[in-house]
Amino acid sequence: MRVIIERDYDSMSRRAASIVAELIRRQPDAVLGLATGSTPIGLYRELIRLHREEKLDFARLTTFNLDEYEGLPAGHPQSYHHFMKDHLFAHVNLKSKRTHLLDGLARDAARACAAYERRILKAGGIDLQLLGIGGDGHIGFNEPGSSLAGRTELVLLHPRTIADNGRFFDRLEDVPRRALSMGVGTILEARVCLILASGKNKAEAWARMIEGPISAQLPASALQLHPQVIALCDEAAAANLQHIDRYRHAAEVLADQSLLPANLKRKRARRRV
Ligand code: GLP
Repeated sequence: MRVIIERDYDSMSRRAASIVAELIRRQPDAVLGLATGSTPIGLYRELIRLHREEKLDFARLTTFNLDEYEGLPAGHPQSYHHFMKDHLFAHVNLKSKRTHLLDGLARDAARACAAYERRILKAGGIDLQLLGIGGDGHIGFNEPGSSLAGRTELVLLHPRTIADNGRFFDRLEDVPRRALSMGVGTILEARVCLILASGKNKAEAWARMIEGPISAQLPASALQLHPQVIALCDEAAAANLQHIDRYRHAAEVLADQSLLPANLKRKRARRRV
């Protein structure tokens, strides 16, 4: 895991955008896994700026979002469909037929989730999966106790997540109790994972993810098993890291090297599940 610590939220967001932009420039038909939440908003803002000012081209990209609340229609202001439209899709030249999100209104969630997995495979798999981390260590909506080999499915939200995400809804009772989410197993199949964390309320989960034991009690810790993880945070989120000097040293020594693997070319998987 490459741990990169930036000074604050804005510099973290710019750094994240530079990594995503490098991927898009090197592989214009890449498949991106996208995340929601307040953390990636700055990154999306910077990508929009790069699109406007430096002509960063999204036309050939394919995207898959991590998760969606159950029961919220795409037009609901708190749906992740709406979030993506607001914070990215409406401002760049992504093709709508190549942006994919789980359907919160699917009558048969299991079927919709299996179809989503098939679509990811058909697209050749995810090249770079963007992730945030919940205060309880969840990724996507994979809460503590989720299988570390889990696939996309309908999941229950933990009370802490309901409370954390309640800030976006008028009333706590309005927060959906379930969601459709890529599984940890699905996430681990991405070629590169870029996980972001900002602020002191993430410091504990962040340190456990990087330095703690791998445990289903902290689903983000499964990323320790992945060979290409970029863990990018600000100073506040890094506050509990024990080996911070080691990470800073590595970042300094490797400063002029790309954080992305040299060979991004991928085999186009057409396997069916
Ligand atoms: C939600 C999302 C996660 C996200 C997490 C953290 O629960 N499903 O994908 O990482 O919130 O959100 P924030 O970035 O707002 O702290």
